[in-house]
Amino acid sequence: MVAVSRNLNQSTLDKWDADHAWHPFTQSSERGFAPPLQIEKGEGHWLFDLNGNRYFDGTASMWTNVRGHGNPSLDNALREQLDYLAHSTFLGHGHPTATLLSRKLAEISPSALEVAFFTDNGSCAVEVALKMSFQFWQLIGRPEKQKVVAMEGAYHGDTFGAMSVGGGGFFAERFRPWCFEVEHFPAPLCLESSGIIHQEDSTSSLDALQLLLDREGDKIAALVLEPSVQGAAGMKQQPSGFLQAVAQLCQKADVHLILDEVFVGFGRLGEMLVCSDEGVQPDFLCLAKGLTGGYLPLAATMTTSEVYAAFSGAYHEHKALYHGHTFTANPLAAAVALRNVEMLEEDLAQGLVAEGTKAFGYYLNKTLAKHPNVREVRQRGLACCLDLCPDKDNSNAFPVTRRAGLEVCMEARARGVLLRPLGNSIPLVPPILVRPDELEFLCHVLRDSLDANFAKEQKS
Ligand SMILES: Cc1ncc(COP(=O)(O)O)c(C=O)c1O
Repeated sequence: MVAVSRNLNQSTLDKWDADHAWHPFTQSSERGFAPPLQIEKGEGHWLFDLNGNRYFDGTASMWTNVRGHGNPSLDNALREQLDYLAHSTFLGHGHPTATLLSRKLAEISPSALEVAFFTDNGSCAVEVALKMSFQFWQLIGRPEKQKVVAMEGAYHGDTFGAMSVGGGGFFAERFRPWCFEVEHFPAPLCLESSGIIHQEDSTSSLDALQLLLDREGDKIAALVLEPSVQGAAGMKQQPSGFLQAVAQLCQKADVHLILDEVFVGFGRLGEMLVCSDEGVQPDFLCLAKGLTGGYLPLAATMTTSEVYAAFSGAYHEHKALYHGHTFTANPLAAAVALRNVEMLEEDLAQGLVAEGTKAFGYYLNKTLAKHPNVREVRQRGLACCLDLCPDKDNSNAFPVTRRAGLEVCMEARARGVLLRPLGNSIPLVPPILVRPDELEFLCHVLRDSLDANFAKEQKS
């Protein structure tokens, strides 16, 4: 093992990790109960810790992984690029790989989205879309269009702009005083239904949006939305036709539509992009996570030639977009992304993702939907979330102090599956090209973990 050959052992690494490494979204006081693993190796859809224990990657390494770890084609794309160039700035210069990738992204995006602006992560892809929209209206002589609209429950990332458009919740709560004002409209209603079938009603949501746009459309620059599924809200779904209705309202009110496909893009919901599948042309499209197959940090904000052209002007006019990151369009990340997107086009054409989606639904239904401690299972494509409950027959929720989600995830870890809870809910987000037998394993392990955890409670 690499680490052992460097004379490092588990306890040394644990100590150094505890002393020096700050883990995101992680309460350090829980180290005793949920000690961070040292993941040393990845192979296919599995991760291996320092002691050689293997775990199914049930979060797709935070919703990024498409075709597994150590994929030979992606590895080769990275190695081949390394023979040419690891990094050179994209500020004022280009390099062939990112140029090819920008063309490929324009090809897979709805036809009007022809230009790619690269950053390193999903939050920045959203920040850039917001800044582009804001500046665009100034540049075309409508500086009064400054407001932003987003949907309740939204999560768009952790930078300040992304937090501002986020739809509440405790993630960003402490930072609210530093965030800018955003109008949030209600999400489609989720009608309670037990089991796996979930219904939504968008009437009140669309009515509220229409009112807002009628009232303030003249002052609104953009509306930002996670199309089809709000991931971090717990895979909350929108009914079919909702996205098109929102797009039409935005178009009528002359408000930019920013679609955040950071989570749902690149096969997660069964197609390359949700907007293309639904025939919707946004003004900005934010991409990240699955773009590189989960290998390297890279994000893109796609926009139209019209928006791009508005930023063109004489040198002294300062119309250029003054936003950029040191590692923007990193060639290594771009090379892996290009290969990943090309391969994903073939996988989708062969129906591989559709097969996985069907198998996922089958095993969720068979093993988890009727479990007494599962209130509801929401699945679309390879995105799923289940809500835990003390008892299916009443609406009581577990108190936060019960740490129900965390405890179930620890049970799953002991059985060889890595998951991360969202409070009392558990998202299941496997790598996109997951195999049916792996989905069966994932669902069975989760059912056994629920049984083990809640049986303990009944005894106590
Ligand atoms: C829909 C959506 N947008 C934006 C982000 C932020 O992406 P990143 O963590 O790469 O900044 C996420 C992350 O989960 C997301 O789900």
